[in-house]
Amino acid sequence: MTKDYNEIDLKNNIKTKIIGNNIIFFDEITSTNDYLKENVYNFPEGSVVFAKSQTKGRGRRGDIWENSPNNNIFMSLLLKPDIQLDSLLRISLVCSLSIVKALKKISNNTDFQIKWPNDIIVNEKKICGILAEFVDDNLVIGIGMNVNSDSFPESIRNKATSLKMEGIETSVPNVTSLILKQVEQDYFTYLENGFLFFIEEYKKYCCNLNKKVKITTGSTEKFGEIIAINQDGTLLFKDENNETSIIYSNEVSVRGLDGYV
Ligand code: BTN
Repeated sequence: MTKDYNEIDLKNNIKTKIIGNNIIFFDEITSTNDYLKENVYNFPEGSVVFAKSQTKGRGRRGDIWENSPNNNIFMSLLLKPDIQLDSLLRISLVCSLSIVKALKKISNNTDFQIKWPNDIIVNEKKICGILAEFVDDNLVIGIGMNVNSDSFPESIRNKATSLKMEGIETSVPNVTSLILKQVEQDYFTYLENGFLFFIEEYKKYCCNLNKKVKITTGSTEKFGEIIAINQDGTLLFKDENNETSIIYSNEVSVRGLDGYV
């Protein structure tokens, strides 16, 4: 049985200084990203909008993000970094690494991986997604993590998993507090040292580096291999004609051809 939790349980677990210091909690909301984007100027840096349920959760590339009330993490973090707009990608890569490190604290022997740019994968299925968006210079990082889901709709059943389905028993407040702690630590390191500080560790967890993939941009599909992750977080891609190109946007879809999602 999944243990239910409330706002107090969630807040009591959080031990961060800035990220999570101000939690705006909802039993139900349309989308935590949408709410935070509408309110970026009303909240200080580090504010977190958290919901037990979302009715219009959004994924990358306009996808719908599945709702499973009470069981999962739906939250958005507000960052106000004084850095260039083009680093949205890199901050989201670092964030995915922070989440893997947080999850390792719960289950060190589970093989958590990152599918570039920022999907968290376990056993070739997605367990967590990140939707990073800007409003002017304010950054909204939406995190959706499947913690205690027992099943998924038919359409995503063979591509999605949860901590519970992977045999990891934990609570939403526990996972949330570990994520916020690690994101806070890595965010300040990132502001000081940049993405280069994290790139080797990121590559260690990246499951689509040196793999055959299909890259879809709009209606165009390209088959080839990811041959490097560049210092700026972009991909170096070699297509079937041995031509290389740089994949800049995190609005592309990257699908593995060797099994993983
Ligand atoms: C993806 O993998 O496509 C990104 C999924 C991001 C989902 C989270 S859930 C909390 C926040 N609110 C949203 O509407 N989306 C993000």
